[in-house]
Amino acid sequence: MPRRVFDERDLSLVKEVLDSGMLSGLGGGQMTPRFEREFAAALGAKYGVAMNSAMSVLHASVKAAGAGAGDEVICDPVCVFGAVATMYNNAVPVFVDIDPVTHNMNPDLLEAKITDRTRAIIVTHVWGLPAPMDRIMEIARRHGLFVIEDCAHAIFASYKGQYTGTFGDVGSFSFQMSKQMALGDGGMAVTNDEKVRDELALHAGAPTFHSVAYGLHWNYRITEVTAAIGIAQLERMHDYIAGLQAVAKLYDDAVAGCEWLTLQRAGPEYVHTFHFWVATFWGDRHGISMEDFRAALERHECGVNIGYTGMPAYKHPLIAERLGYGRGCPLDCPLYAGQGNQYPEGLCPVAEEVIPRMVLVYTFSDDEYHKVNAERLHQVVEEIS
Ligand SMILES: Cc1ncc(COP(=O)(O)O)c(C=O)c1O
Repeated sequence: MPRRVFDERDLSLVKEVLDSGMLSGLGGGQMTPRFEREFAAALGAKYGVAMNSAMSVLHASVKAAGAGAGDEVICDPVCVFGAVATMYNNAVPVFVDIDPVTHNMNPDLLEAKITDRTRAIIVTHVWGLPAPMDRIMEIARRHGLFVIEDCAHAIFASYKGQYTGTFGDVGSFSFQMSKQMALGDGGMAVTNDEKVRDELALHAGAPTFHSVAYGLHWNYRITEVTAAIGIAQLERMHDYIAGLQAVAKLYDDAVAGCEWLTLQRAGPEYVHTFHFWVATFWGDRHGISMEDFRAALERHECGVNIGYTGMPAYKHPLIAERLGYGRGCPLDCPLYAGQGNQYPEGLCPVAEEVIPRMVLVYTFSDDEYHKVNAERLHQVVEEIS
């Protein structure tokens, strides 16, 4: 471990689908509703709504929040996906800076970003570490804002004993192939609100023709085969997560005592599920340049990524060059009358400084690989400290 297992259990559920001749939840397939029930129950949520990707879930969730042209949605700046979903809905993403240690949205900075145009907050549990949801929810509720948790990195992560995805109005999960629960592709929304479930279900299951009666919605249906594999994989998730946590421990041990690498961690009430193991490089404050670090990693053939995308979400061409639907939308939509669509240098100074310093290891691969790789990282730290 961590190794993804697809075996007789998955095959027997897939065979059930094929034997039934019903490969879609539309018209009676039973795997999708079963997957939705079992996934929601495993997290302690009331309802699950399965879709074909997490971007579909995020797109539909921003719509369920009532955010559209002229509105703002607050996002975090490390991962771009919340901003993308906001822009799908022709709304304007507004960014809150991060905490330099946890890489999650800094709740101290959240309230100042709320305006009378704000409709929702999308909170990513970055790399698998929960964001401080009690503070975020308290602020959101006081302002009547809809909260979407992006749990693409954080399945079965928890904060104060509660699973991520169950604090806000919607929790969004990704089953894309690199994620902790990998089904090829797919996504799941969880919610405790029946109305939100019904709205999301229109995008997930209703025939597209229903648009004529219920308003515009998209066809984001998951297939029965994917749902069948999801049921089998769900049974293995706690083993997978324990494996990822064991991998993270190898890297924690490899850098133990290193004062120039800060682990991306919070207190004991935060249970991290390590889509990536991540630390932040502060070597330049200890006489070690990034170039020295990179060169040593290369010499030791140590497989870490430095810097993720190298920039916060708003510096990507999508936002910096205002790409979108044409005619100025969404960022310069004529219905938008606020200032949140400006993204100058220094907008989120912590994210701008910290993202290029991020040191990341993708956890879901062979144990043997990680043992060797962690030992190499240890050698790098020893050599240049
Ligand atoms: C944080 C985050 N949110 C959303 C997504 C989108 O997931 P999907 O590929 O299932 O649409 C990703 C995928 O990389 C992600 O990392």
